[in-house]
Amino acid sequence: MLGIIGGSGFYNAGYAENIRHLEMVTEYSDVAVPIELIETDKPFAFLARHGKDHHIPPHEINFRANIDALRQAGVTEIVAINAVGGIAEGTGPGSIIVPDQLIDYTWGRHSTFCGQSKRFVQHVDFSFPFDKALSDKLVSAVNVINDQSGAARPVMAGGVYGVTQGPRLETAAEIKKMRRDGCDIVGMTAMPEAVLAREASINYALIALSVNWAAGILPSEVTMDEIKAVLADGHQFLRRVIARIIDG
Ligand code: HPA
Repeated sequence: MLGIIGGSGFYNAGYAENIRHLEMVTEYSDVAVPIELIETDKPFAFLARHGKDHHIPPHEINFRANIDALRQAGVTEIVAINAVGGIAEGTGPGSIIVPDQLIDYTWGRHSTFCGQSKRFVQHVDFSFPFDKALSDKLVSAVNVINDQSGAARPVMAGGVYGVTQGPRLETAAEIKKMRRDGCDIVGMTAMPEAVLAREASINYALIALSVNWAAGILPSEVTMDEIKAVLADGHQFLRRVIARIIDG
């Protein structure tokens, strides 16, 4: 079964009927993880990464509980939706990126299911963090919707997602360094989500919506108002992409 993880501004699957609200209990959290199970012809699960009302900041997301909850619900592949800042040419606000690589700059997050208490050590291969087939499907879906609606939303197939700790945005110098490192976009939530999915043997792909130019790319500061404006419009588009993935 497919699982969708919604990011900033994406708090439900957008379905009014046939929804079962699950409260998944995991060993990684005292509080249950809410998951929507949408029981249509092609059932899928939906989880809001930041909670239903965006009360969980990036550094406090319980990624282990979320991934374990999806696994228990029967999810075998995940499409993650992320808002990001654009660094490379072609990743400006409103554009869509389906990255094929990442660099992890986060720290202090629980980034593995293995450990001494579990009595197992596992070194998963993570050469290619995103599932190629699922990523290709996402890019195709964006192209089809662009064609159908006469939209010309730029889409970048591939690219490097630099994952920062947050919740603050970066300094201009940090973005300069990340650009030198090869990062094309910057966000706060792809890790450890992607690696935990890998450890749980869940195929994982990510579709990112750029909501701002990253710090220092433009001379001006980054404002939340500009981000919110792009989010609302971009999510309408992403909902159509997701609907195609589910139906296809
Ligand atoms: N930096 C990090 N995360 C983000 C950004 C950004 O500029 N925009 C949206 N998420």
